[in-house]
Amino acid sequence: MRKKIIAGNWKMNLSLNEANELHEAIEKLNSSDNQLVKIIFPPFVYLDRFIQKKGHFNVGAQNVSQFSNGAYTGEISANMLKSIGCQYVLIGHSERREYFNEGDNILSLKVKQALQNSLKIIYCIGETKDQRQNDDFLSILSNQLNLLTESLEINDFENISIAYEPVWAIGTGLTASPDQVEEVHASLRIALEKMTNKTTALNTSIIYGGSCNTTNAESLFSCPNVDGGLIGGASLKAKDFLEIIALLNNS
Ligand code: 13P
Repeated sequence: MRKKIIAGNWKMNLSLNEANELHEAIEKLNSSDNQLVKIIFPPFVYLDRFIQKKGHFNVGAQNVSQFSNGAYTGEISANMLKSIGCQYVLIGHSERREYFNEGDNILSLKVKQALQNSLKIIYCIGETKDQRQNDDFLSILSNQLNLLTESLEINDFENISIAYEPVWAIGTGLTASPDQVEEVHASLRIALEKMTNKTTALNTSIIYGGSCNTTNAESLFSCPNVDGGLIGGASLKAKDFLEIIALLNNS
């Protein structure tokens, strides 16, 4: 059975005080949603603090180096993340692809580093606005998935979830409609089955990200192939994030 996942990507936001306040507020949630996997992705400098608090939320890193260790000033290795008790990592986010030139080679090295260090991966894929105009945009997405799967073993998928994040919907207030999202998620699951096998495809969580908020979450989460959400802006407001979690819990 695949898991439902709700994740908050804080991106490069919040001072320490603000981050503490947000964390305290979301940790007050009641625990009737135990069947959900709940993750926050704070900036690196706050990871250890929230890991030590051992709350309801798993803690993940927004990025990881493709290198194992050495003279790479400013980088954070998968082994360092593991050593502080970090459990999850985001790889392939469109903001990393676009602003930091992370291409397929780098991303597949990052995936290997994360898996070697037993981190669980949320691997992001998504099409740009221009690619969406292309009739064949579903195959653009399955190619992105293929680049992930071709270097992996079937067992690796126990530690991998997919986030579909249409680039045109991230931080723009534009959301893909439930029909658009279901079309993509269902086609990704079929593509995943071809690349791996039926069990792996059925057991891999595929979550949606891109202006998911309290207004649209219910209809997005009602789609059969949507297994949760990767929330950006709305995860910075405790009340909204908790409401979105409750909507996933009731879906
Ligand atoms: P927004 O929810 O702010 O559009 O961000 C989505 C996202 O990029 C999550 O990783």
